[in-house]
Amino acid sequence: MKSLVIYFSRPGNNWAVGYIEKGNTEVIAEYIRQFTGADLFKCDPVKPYSEDYAKCTEEAMAYKKADARPELKKYLDDISGYDVIYIGGPIYWGELPYEVYTELDRLDFKGKTVKPFSTHEGSGLGNVESVLKRKCVGASVKKGLAIQGGSVNSDFAKKQVKNWVE
Ligand SMILES: Cc1cc2nc3c(=O)[nH]c(=O)nc-3n(C[C@H](O)[C@H](O)[C@H](O)COP(=O)(O)O)c2cc1C
Repeated sequence: MKSLVIYFSRPGNNWAVGYIEKGNTEVIAEYIRQFTGADLFKCDPVKPYSEDYAKCTEEAMAYKKADARPELKKYLDDISGYDVIYIGGPIYWGELPYEVYTELDRLDFKGKTVKPFSTHEGSGLGNVESVLKRKCVGASVKKGLAIQGGSVNSDFAKKQVKNWVE
């Protein structure tokens, strides 16, 4: 069974954790890889968000208002070789960053198993499960996993990921 993780994550200044070299969601994506052997695909925007937290929230709100599809540095067009697709990111204003939508809009999910995940500071999965059910047409969307961003580097978070992927 081959799996893939499609995710977004942003280093820099963030809520609750201060400055981080590696984004919280990236830590979770790497746990998934460790436990499943999944390939990782990061939705990496051509225009990165500001390192400043407050500015970043404004940029994310502008994308939301415009229903934007920010351009990515590279794209993935074929997921036919994968059975299970993990899709995740930080919660931005209640949902996934729009970079993830840019990528999802290009893919054919027919027959795939989709497992949603998020990192957050209170919103849990936000609308992620319902949006993925709508966007990943033909996929079976499973129960998602939400992990608090400030806790990703703990044994507890790692164990939660292990239990969930199994
Ligand atoms: C632009 C922006 C918007 C955010 N909006 C929310 C939110 O609506 N709800 C929430 O619980 N956390 C919110 N957060 C916190 C992030 O979801 C959380 O810190 C996450 O772990 C960051 O993941 P990353 O380091 O992988 O980018 C927001 C953070 C940013 C930068």
